[in-house]
Amino acid sequence: MKSAILPLYESSEKYLVKSKGCYLYDSEGKKYLDLEAGVWCANLGHSNPKITKVIKKEINTSIHHGYRFSNNYSEKLSSELQRIIGFKNGASVFLSSGSEAINLAITIARKITNRKKIIKISNSYLSAFGFGGISPDNNDLINVMYNDEKSIEAINFNEAAAFVLETGGASLEMVKFPNKIFVKKLVNTAKKNKTIIIADEVTTGMGRTGKWFGFQHYDIKPNMVVTGKGLGNGYPISGVTVDSKIAAAIRKNPIRYAQSHQNDPLGCAVGLEVIKTIEEENIINKSILIGNYFYDKLKFLKENNKDKIKEVRGRGLLLAVEFHKNVDGNLLNKMLFENGFVFGFKLNTIRLLPTLIITKKDIDKFIAKLTDLLKSL
Ligand SMILES: Cc1ncc(COP(=O)(O)O)c(C=O)c1O
Repeated sequence: MKSAILPLYESSEKYLVKSKGCYLYDSEGKKYLDLEAGVWCANLGHSNPKITKVIKKEINTSIHHGYRFSNNYSEKLSSELQRIIGFKNGASVFLSSGSEAINLAITIARKITNRKKIIKISNSYLSAFGFGGISPDNNDLINVMYNDEKSIEAINFNEAAAFVLETGGASLEMVKFPNKIFVKKLVNTAKKNKTIIIADEVTTGMGRTGKWFGFQHYDIKPNMVVTGKGLGNGYPISGVTVDSKIAAAIRKNPIRYAQSHQNDPLGCAVGLEVIKTIEEENIINKSILIGNYFYDKLKFLKENNKDKIKEVRGRGLLLAVEFHKNVDGNLLNKMLFENGFVFGFKLNTIRLLPTLIITKKDIDKFIAKLTDLLKSL
């Protein structure tokens, strides 16, 4: 069938009709174990009943409103995010996608500092468009080579508005975690030069790495935290949360920025329910255990397939398995998908960011099939 959707990314010919928990169902009745939680969004499982209940209620109350009003949900979500980030007297703004939020955070940093340049680690992905765009012709973007402490010295931090830190890059190099000394040095250099530190927690946030936020593994304090993806569990909401100093600077010298879906009550109600559910159900602690279980199983597989598996990487439920060149990863990718497993594949590497509620039984099922298929490759 000829699709009426522009083919802007690679996709299969399958049509989805239902998503529930850790599973996706296509129009031919086939069931898939989703090891990517959508696009790493549905941390609490697809169509989570608590989130669905809030959406249904809020649809009948207020989805959206204009600039003449504020609403309680956005106020409360800002407070809750500040609490789990560790900010006091800060403030937030809510948008729809991670890309929008990253671009707004950068816009704010540029206005406050009156500087233009943006620094990021070379393998970080910031956004689909704009200042954070990864296009090489973005002259205002400075890349620090991943884990290369020496390259920090060559950068002129005092002309940089912001250092955008992603503490677990899942997109460009398929799950890499910058080391602590490198990140500390970057953060300290940025602080010394009054460069604003923006933690990009679009992917690493909301429990994905075994803490609320990825930066919390590094003993550092960002000035702004950008959230998205898991904040809405599949519903499109993102946020920029700033510390008290930045909030005060904006209150003193207001910046005008307005989008149609800014601070919409429905999205904020969803974000609040996500935080509440994670806490009530002790999801982060449980996901650490299940993440360790998954990682250990993959490590065991590597030990028994040293000639085929090059590396296993992981933190919490942000995992990857890289194969040696002699393994036909494209074929493995195709066969696993045919066997009902959905995951990321690039650079001869399988990427796994399942829902945080994945069970040992589902992990075992995947490991068994991967073990089996590896024998034939
Ligand atoms: C670290 C990071 N930042 C920003 C984004 C952009 O978010 P979105 O795709 O919601 O625009 C992504 C998306 O994958 C991401 O991984």
